[in-house]
Amino acid sequence: MVYFIEYESCLKAAERGTGMRLEQAKEKLKKYGQEHLLKYYDELSDTEKEALLSQIEAADMDVPEACRHSAEPAPRGVITPLSAMQIPEIEAQRESFTAAGLEAIRSGKVGAVLLAGGMGTRLGSEDPKGMFNVGLTRELYIFECQIHNLLDVVRSAQTWIHLFVMTSDKNHEKTVSFLTEHDFFGYNREYVHFFQQETAVATDYRGKIFLEGKGRLSTSPNGNGGWFISLKKAGLLELVHREGIEWLNVFAVDNVLQRIADPCFVGAVIQKNCVAGAKVVRKNDPHEKVGVICLEDGRPSIVEYYELTEEMAQAKDENGVPAYYFGVILNYLFSVAELERILERKLPLHVVEKKIPYLGDMGETVKPAEPNGYKYECLVLDMIHEMENCLPFEVEREREFAPIKNMTGVDSVESARALLEKNGVRL
Ligand code: UTP
Repeated sequence: MVYFIEYESCLKAAERGTGMRLEQAKEKLKKYGQEHLLKYYDELSDTEKEALLSQIEAADMDVPEACRHSAEPAPRGVITPLSAMQIPEIEAQRESFTAAGLEAIRSGKVGAVLLAGGMGTRLGSEDPKGMFNVGLTRELYIFECQIHNLLDVVRSAQTWIHLFVMTSDKNHEKTVSFLTEHDFFGYNREYVHFFQQETAVATDYRGKIFLEGKGRLSTSPNGNGGWFISLKKAGLLELVHREGIEWLNVFAVDNVLQRIADPCFVGAVIQKNCVAGAKVVRKNDPHEKVGVICLEDGRPSIVEYYELTEEMAQAKDENGVPAYYFGVILNYLFSVAELERILERKLPLHVVEKKIPYLGDMGETVKPAEPNGYKYECLVLDMIHEMENCLPFEVEREREFAPIKNMTGVDSVESARALLEKNGVRL
């Protein structure tokens, strides 16, 4: 389950200094009811003590407060349907959209942002998700699929596209070395820029922060919603300005059919004078687990599948077509100017139930088989509601949507392999 709580800022924690002494740490922990975090303090070396105190100082301990309201429904505005620009309309204008998109790409106005900071816990691999090999008779990594898709555009535009890759402290080194070892799968290294996202503490169901080691709080990536702030913190916004990038296409690592910096999509958003666009697919079931594009108090927004009421799931428009029909696939185009305008905006905090490894009573690491607590995340989909407008742009799901969340079943390695084969990719 995911819940929706107002949260002052995803990144507050990282902005604080380091070096808090033990007494101050105790005071802070007492204030937040987290005194158990010093249980093993006396057993630690000086360096470990210092590291733990710094981590306690930096941790935003207001975050777990959110779990106390986790059963309350998210406060939402008035939700009404929003239709998409649909495939026949797109086909009729494909040439003109594509030409406009290619022109923007050729003049360096488009960058791509790969969100690869997630833990991919459902897939069950220790490695970053992009390192997963979906090949059967040869190696074919998720990162490789994505880069190949982007290379298609590089070839038609005859220009390199800046690719920003968001990682987290949990997977940064592995991601960088993997891509380096594979020579960026043919991509121009100079156009690839890594940056790390922030983390947030993870807790049990009562909001008590887990220890992941005797001298380490359990933290996890704080969701994909902080990507633009993290990109700025890494100094990359300067590069964006310097290079004249006006549009950023943000996409998830796990969709192996993802079309990135798609000229037709870019051109459609530009020609329709929008500041954002979202690729969407027709839901294959009213209850399919994808967020649905809609209007909330007249502004673009996304209703998550668990927020969709039965009435909304069954609602039809005047032509008998489902009213909430278009699911987002985590492929958004944002105007950089608009992103800068909303930089200071607060995003909601989602409380997400997950399996979180923790230190047991005997000081041993426990890896739970079932969810045992909460992680706290901001999500990129909430940025859509901050946008002045957004173009929902329909794509064919069989050609562009093959997410890998699990090993088998729905949205899995299995289903993605079948779709890759359907699209002529040799596995
Ligand atoms: P998911 O919602 O699938 O989360 O991410 P996840 O952490 O990868 O996987 P599970 O839920 O643990 O199985 C959707 C996209 O957002 C990125 C992921 O890498 C993926 O591209 N993401 C997610 C981040 O970049 N940072 C995060 O903190 C979370």
